Amino acid sequence: MVKIAPSLLAADFSALGQELQRIPQADMLHIDVMDGCFVPNISIGPPVVSAIRDKTPLHFDVHLMLEHPLPYIEAFCAAGADSVSFHIESKDDPAAVISRIRELGMKPGIALSPATPPESLEHIDRDLYLITVMTVEPGFGGQKLIESCLDKLPALRKMFPHALLEIDGGVNLETAPLCLEKGADILVAGTAVFRAPDPAAAIQSLRAN
Ligand code: DX5
Ligand code: ZN
Repeated sequence: MVKIAPSLLAADFSALGQELQRIPQADMLHIDVMDGCFVPNISIGPPVVSAIRDKTPLHFDVHLMLEHPLPYIEAFCAAGADSVSFHIESKDDPAAVISRIRELGMKPGIALSPATPPESLEHIDRDLYLITVMTVEPGFGGQKLIESCLDKLPALRKMFPHALLEIDGGVNLETAPLCLEKGADILVAGTAVFRAPDPAAAIQSLRAN
């Protein structure tokens, strides 16, 4: 069954502990980290991740939108990340970042921005845990899903038969079925979950789609 990963970016930042109590039915928590450089926005860092670690038993799926992810892997491990994905378009050597994530006992993932084709992962370790297919330009929540990005899924599935394929950006009740049709394993949903009147019900409906 598809996993639902609410994105913390759309939660009420003044009450994160309480927000996490509203999503016990989630399968993982998606945490967007932005550096104001790789993307034109700044979000949250290791101290916030660490502050919420004991507020929920959920798997922490950390999505690094950083120009240089390598120097920060250790800090996110210490803060309580379970999996860490970084962008193939970032500036560090992907093999080095993947080994660092593994060395520290976490699960590695790679994210692809909308314009990046599956072939850019040709030389990447086939045992990745996760591939994050961005269906919006990274940087902001609340955008519209770019449907053509979903066409990458069949090729990625062939290249990485063991990886979970995660869709990130613009997922809601209307677009979730399109993602599932193309074979998504995880749906990230920020606005559709945390801005819904009843986040728990929103998760169930996304899953039931
Ligand atoms: C965008 C982030 C997404 C975002 C999704 O850079 O990676 O995870 O929070 O938000 P929604 O679901 O609102 O599109
Ligand atoms: Zn994300």
